[in-house]
Amino acid sequence: MKKERILIFDTTLRDGEQSAGASMSVEDKIEIAERLNEMKVDIIEAGFPFASKGDFQGVKKISEISNYSVVCGLARAQFKDIDAAGEALSKAKRKRIHTFISTSDLHMKYKLRMTKKEVLESINKSINRASRYTDDIEWSPEDASRTQESFLFKSIEYAISSGAKTINIPDTVGYAIPKEFGDLIKKIKNNVSNIDKAVISVHCHNDLGLAVSNSISAINEGARQVECTINGIGERAGNAALEEIVMCLKTRRDKLPFYTNINSRKITLISHLVSTITGFSVQPNKAIVGKNAFAHESGIHQDGMLKNSNTYEIITPESIGLSSSELVLGKHSGRHAFKVKLNELGFSFEENSVNKLFKKFKALADKKKQIFEEDLYSLVDNEQKFKKKLNVELLNLSVKCGTDKESEANIKLNIFGETKTIKKHGNGPIDAIFNALKSLIPNKANLIIYQVNGITKGTDAQAEVNVRLEEKSITVQGQGKDVDTMVASAKAYINAMNKLIMKRKKAQDSKSLLQISNTKLNKHVI
Ligand code: KIV
Ligand code: ZN
Repeated sequence: MKKERILIFDTTLRDGEQSAGASMSVEDKIEIAERLNEMKVDIIEAGFPFASKGDFQGVKKISEISNYSVVCGLARAQFKDIDAAGEALSKAKRKRIHTFISTSDLHMKYKLRMTKKEVLESINKSINRASRYTDDIEWSPEDASRTQESFLFKSIEYAISSGAKTINIPDTVGYAIPKEFGDLIKKIKNNVSNIDKAVISVHCHNDLGLAVSNSISAINEGARQVECTINGIGERAGNAALEEIVMCLKTRRDKLPFYTNINSRKITLISHLVSTITGFSVQPNKAIVGKNAFAHESGIHQDGMLKNSNTYEIITPESIGLSSSELVLGKHSGRHAFKVKLNELGFSFEENSVNKLFKKFKALADKKKQIFEEDLYSLVDNEQKFKKKLNVELLNLSVKCGTDKESEANIKLNIFGETKTIKKHGNGPIDAIFNALKSLIPNKANLIIYQVNGITKGTDAQAEVNVRLEEKSITVQGQGKDVDTMVASAKAYINAMNKLIMKRKKAQDSKSLLQISNTKLNKHVI
């Protein structure tokens, strides 16, 4: 049977960044975009250029470095949004503008305060405006799955005749169920007269846990582009997870006659990178990339696996870039073995970076007998974080605590290039550390989550600490890893602080999107 290609449109850097608590610097976005290019994602939605200077810069920089993927910028149906997207994308080898407007009665009445006629007019004007910059234009009817069908068909027809080449059908609030969503795609194919002139795309949210099922159902009915994110991050409950869509199509090609161009062996690496940058840990039982996705606990399963791995494994770990051996290196491993292992994990570093990492590896191996893949990932993370220009950096930490003394933390930080030191006490060592950090980096943030996990087995395992801070309406998630749980905690808090500083700035230089879309601006600008 002839297989048809499904385009993978990744929106980790746009919808993914809209996850509460997630924030990415321009450098973070570039790093993720490089990996998305390597794994051969067809289209990268790099951001929402009008939303903030940071978003604009992110799209601009990614446009400059993207050598495989089409770079896409999001824009509401407003000239200033579309112009910002056009400008940010100007250096891209291949560029796309994605413009959208709500079409459901609910959104038109309460959010846009626009009539159907006004919405139709703005579809035409926004697409015409976008065509000044590119002929690769994607158009989305926001809240499509709750839109009156006849108006949805009419809007799509109008968008295609105005010049849209991709029609994206979002299940904005994750309300659809698979058969219904597949049927909607079928109806669009049967009722929109010019639909053969556009690619149908879908963009499913996961509020009912159905984002991937809905996307697959839509593919079966004619969608040929899927919008998704690494680890399924995104607004509220997130978006369809890229790794799940790709591996579902690959694993069940007997029933699904489709293929993607994605190099699935890059999945583990990018999943890890996104988790580290956003501070969102991947749940252990998460499909494809969870820690337990290839763990066989029960005796019966282990016995079956030893006899034939097909008994309980439908995907090989290697196909997503996991190596089959758990234990990787030890104290006596040499530089060559270390470099080979890094390459196996998908990293490629210049010789002097390998040398630096090797020194750190040796230091870690002195503290820990066994070095697992997760340890290598965290070694690389720390090195990459170090390379980025940070506002706040930990220079030194020492802690005194115990049954008979009040806990005390001594901290030395580099804050905006200045070295500052402080000593603080607290109710236990973590409290002392956080008190010290709070007084060196003034903030009004409340600590909402403090979580510690061992990233590998054993009492000498590195600790991964996750913190979530909330300051007014800003939420940030920070992550820190170290063999010392106290140091990991300080790193996590500092990581969150760096994000808070970035988000405060972003909030200052961007107009609140919500505020704008709640005004009648839409009407008057176009
Ligand atoms: O969920 C949604 O509707 C969106 C659109 C901008 C496509 O993210
Ligand atoms: Zn969305």
